[in-house]
Amino acid sequence: MSVDVRLRGGDLATADTNAVALPLLPGKETPVVGSGRETAAALGVDLDAVLMRESAKAEAGEVLRIPLYSGAVRAIYLVGVGDASPRSLRKAGAGLARRAKDEAVVAIAIRSDRADAGLSALVEGLVLASYRFRAAGAEPKGWQTERFELVTEAPKERQPVLDRTLAVVRAGLRARDLTNTPSLLKSPQWLAEQATAIAAGGGLGIRVRDEKALVAEGFGGILAVGMGSTRPPRLIELTWTPRGAKRHVVLVGKGITFDSGGLSLKPNDGMVSMKTDMAGGAAVMAAMGAVRDLGVRVKVTGLVPAAENLPSGTAQRPGDVITHYGGRTSEVLNTDAEGRLVLADALAYATARLRPDVVVDLATLTGAASLGLGRRHAALYATTDALAAELTEAADRAGERVWRMPLAEDYAFALRSRVADLANIATDKRVSGGSIVAALFLSEFVDGCPWAHLDIAGPARSDGDEDEVTKGATGFGARLLLRWLEKMG
Ligand code: BES
Ligand code: MN
Ligand code: ZN
Repeated sequence: MSVDVRLRGGDLATADTNAVALPLLPGKETPVVGSGRETAAALGVDLDAVLMRESAKAEAGEVLRIPLYSGAVRAIYLVGVGDASPRSLRKAGAGLARRAKDEAVVAIAIRSDRADAGLSALVEGLVLASYRFRAAGAEPKGWQTERFELVTEAPKERQPVLDRTLAVVRAGLRARDLTNTPSLLKSPQWLAEQATAIAAGGGLGIRVRDEKALVAEGFGGILAVGMGSTRPPRLIELTWTPRGAKRHVVLVGKGITFDSGGLSLKPNDGMVSMKTDMAGGAAVMAAMGAVRDLGVRVKVTGLVPAAENLPSGTAQRPGDVITHYGGRTSEVLNTDAEGRLVLADALAYATARLRPDVVVDLATLTGAASLGLGRRHAALYATTDALAAELTEAADRAGERVWRMPLAEDYAFALRSRVADLANIATDKRVSGGSIVAALFLSEFVDGCPWAHLDIAGPARSDGDEDEVTKGATGFGARLLLRWLEKMG
């Protein structure tokens, strides 16, 4: 379970408070304490004297620990909030969670004049930075905070904002858990079982197509990618059907439960992190699990084509020609460009059968995406400016970063094949832009439907703890999708 967050009134320090945290704002000469100075005085600490001696700047995320050597409260944390923008408060929450990780119950003074976005961001920082992955059955390592108490004058008024934020943030944590799970356990069938549990817990419909159903309906891309593994592929379809819905959104997430590259084998260094190649699918599944809690008013279908990309005597070969759902063919020149093959089936199915108003896919699609944009921004492609703007705004509210890239038709010629409708990689060396080329490949399967694609190969994983991000899976996309869906309808 994740750390608990509660709103309450009353005194900052109560009988079971182990630590108190006070906001610190930049001042003219020394920083100033935003609230709770009476509490500090009652605990015997002269904050003005402390701030004179310490060289705190009150930068966002900076945390000063003042240890107390008597009484139940073990420490006061002064937490820099910088300009107090949502971004700064998210950093501040993360900084506090890391620094106070050994305190069981931390009471935080919240200024009642803070906007809702600030409260949400603070909670995001607190909860996301407190995350630790525990493999099934493993014991927790070391201390861990059990609860943050947000102490404010009007706790009841702020409860709805906290509830919605926790629903969003916990979806992010669920996406991290799914993505961090080792592939020894995480087969396509396992992922489908997780989806079944999510459906049961979230009021969703579910249909899982097994390999026989995939053959019967012609999902040739999913089958081709999955046929090298003894653990067969699945297509997961989750549905949220609220009464009176006027629009239908389809979310598609790449669900490669392990990407070895297939016969176009990756070197070991490139392979070790590839249990995370279903991060897009995890974001979609986790977001679907929270739509009821958020009262999403539009119909939403979540599709996750799940397959394990392995080399073997039954694997697809470079040079094979495969037939996608709906009849288009691909020449598989590189079996490591497998994400687009499974997504092509799912996108073709979505647009041909589900009659969506808009389709959004998320995929750890290309290493090239992070070459250009680094490891915190997703590459966003969209067929309309309005959709790009909506998703960018939702990402901003969620504290996730996206940057729009062009669906540059000029490069599409590079995907021409002599033997199939499309080649799965660029056949012309003059064209680079690997993330764009992959997006162009996908665009052939959306049949003119408004569509956006997020290449999350960069931000889906982190090599270290930083702000709200923790090492390993980041859960990227789940929060963004939910912040987008909650505004629709
Ligand atoms: N899953 C990888 C993309 C990836 C790479 C994600 C590194 C995260 C980190 C994808 O299936 C892949 O292998 N893409 C190839 C495409 C190439 C063969 C055209 C790539 O990026 O090298
Ligand atoms: Mn690959
Ligand atoms: Zn992949």
